[in-house]
Amino acid sequence: MCGIIGYNGHKNSIKVLISGLKALEYRGYDSAGIAYYNGKRTEIIKTAGRIANLEKKLKPNIHSNIGIGHTRWATHGKPNDVNSHPHRMHKFTIVHNGIIENYEVLKRELIKKGYKFKTETDSEVIAALLDFTYNSEKDVLKTIAKAEEKLIGAYALGILCDDEPNTLYATRKDSPLIIGVGEKEHFIASDVPAILKYTNKYLILEDNEIAKITDEVTIYHDMKAVTKDVLTFEGDLEVAEKNGYDHFMLKEIHEEPTVIKNTTEPFLIHGLESLLKKMPNFTKYKRIEIVGCGSAYHAGLVGKAIIEKYTNTPVTVYIASEFRYQKLFTDKDTLVILISQSGETADTLASLRKIKSQNVDSLAIVNVVGSSLAREAKETIYIKAGPEISVATTKAYLAQVAILSLIALNIGHKQGIISENKANEIIKSFEALPSYLEEEISKNYKNIAKALYKKNISFYIGRGIDYALSMEGSLKLKEISYIVSMCYPAGELKHGTISLIDKGTNVISVVTDKAIADKTLSNIKEVKSRGAIITLVTTDEIAKEFSGADYIATIPKTNDFISPMITAIPLQLISYETAKLRGCDIDKPKNLAKSVTVE
Ligand code: G6P
Repeated sequence: MCGIIGYNGHKNSIKVLISGLKALEYRGYDSAGIAYYNGKRTEIIKTAGRIANLEKKLKPNIHSNIGIGHTRWATHGKPNDVNSHPHRMHKFTIVHNGIIENYEVLKRELIKKGYKFKTETDSEVIAALLDFTYNSEKDVLKTIAKAEEKLIGAYALGILCDDEPNTLYATRKDSPLIIGVGEKEHFIASDVPAILKYTNKYLILEDNEIAKITDEVTIYHDMKAVTKDVLTFEGDLEVAEKNGYDHFMLKEIHEEPTVIKNTTEPFLIHGLESLLKKMPNFTKYKRIEIVGCGSAYHAGLVGKAIIEKYTNTPVTVYIASEFRYQKLFTDKDTLVILISQSGETADTLASLRKIKSQNVDSLAIVNVVGSSLAREAKETIYIKAGPEISVATTKAYLAQVAILSLIALNIGHKQGIISENKANEIIKSFEALPSYLEEEISKNYKNIAKALYKKNISFYIGRGIDYALSMEGSLKLKEISYIVSMCYPAGELKHGTISLIDKGTNVISVVTDKAIADKTLSNIKEVKSRGAIITLVTTDEIAKEFSGADYIATIPKTNDFISPMITAIPLQLISYETAKLRGCDIDKPKNLAKSVTVE
């Protein structure tokens, strides 16, 4: 949800800012801009559209050693040139990620003081507030601290002041910001990949800390300098490159076997013993609640199906934006699992803070190391997906399911429901999982995509865990191909929605659970007899007994713990191939952003 970057050092900041913005484009891509000090004054260049548009506006040979940049996902005001960041008010130029909730009140006050605003954004108010505060404080650091007292909402800010043209300031509250540490050069960025070309050393700015960056960096908390740990990013730059794949989404699907291996191996390296030792003890909880947004919520639904089947622990799954405003039924016997790739999703973070305020135990399943969710939860389990660039998640979703599956195994065994032998068998199957995934990834789904891509509507149906998997399949299709896609529990379709099924309507059905397969297969016949074209994602075992599908993607029959991950592959690749045939911008679907740091 908007990406910000800043640089102060000996390199040409323009290059650094543009390359940083490209790495942050997944956070928003409807407009972009930079501000830089050219030795005489601060210049701003900004435009609606992608970073490529911004590059066209840059004159060759501009040189600057200090600057800030922004890639936008519009919240307040249309994505046009004027509303693009950076925003300037007299001496202050800023870039902002987040939302200022009281901007209208502040704006009215500042208008009374004589400020004139050009944009519809909440962010321009920050520049004006800084300028106004500076008139009395006469010190940039104090000005930022004072202004922060008035700001309500979420923000990560890069700040330039004309009176200190060689200093870059940054601060944050509830929006992520890291400081990249190089040799006599420093960076600010919403996320680590934006600076990886130059350094893998960084520190995390905490809420309300202010960074003052000259040729060194000082972090202030309550106006006092504090020391911070410098962290090292362990991944490499390759993750931010497509490496010959047409899209990051395809590359990331191909990474799934390795991601699953890296994510599960630490828990399974010495068999059951590692699993029992490395996972926190969840058996003390009588109830689990899972909270997440988008695909993370869908991973939670898959987790619920596995946990409830193999343990005595009931699970409720919530969408975070609903959970945060709902009445809580949690108590000391409840574990709340928060799932988030980014670890920064505003609603998921607010849900965590809500349950923490009631002393309820929390476990975060997170990808981004050091993210807010990871730092604030009682326990954290990292999925080892590495940076995910494609806005539509694939590998992170799969790894979230893997952890939930291991949690089910852990609890089920400790509760005596899964015997030691059975547990060892399941652990063995996890070792084979990467090669199962590889096999599915290598298959061709283009035929199925050809059946889907010409229609503007499709339905997904499934029962139980297959419904949970269908939810994600359906989301994947609609978010990248713009085909209206609705997902229903297979038995529910007939209660109204079946009226939409006509000759030629695409219905994709997931049927992997043998115990209830017949029921769903009957539902498939119901829609087929009304003219639907059926794509079936099923096991080779079930496929042998059913001949009613027009297209079929088979997966091998395995077990309930690894099968959901194998099933996800055809669903992801069918969506990918369909979006490709429709000529969509697969890695950056319209209106979306990967990291949703606003409510
Ligand atoms: C956005 C992304 C989804 C993601 C969701 C939750 O909508 O496009 O892919 O599932 O946010 O993000 P999180 O970082 O919390 O997993």
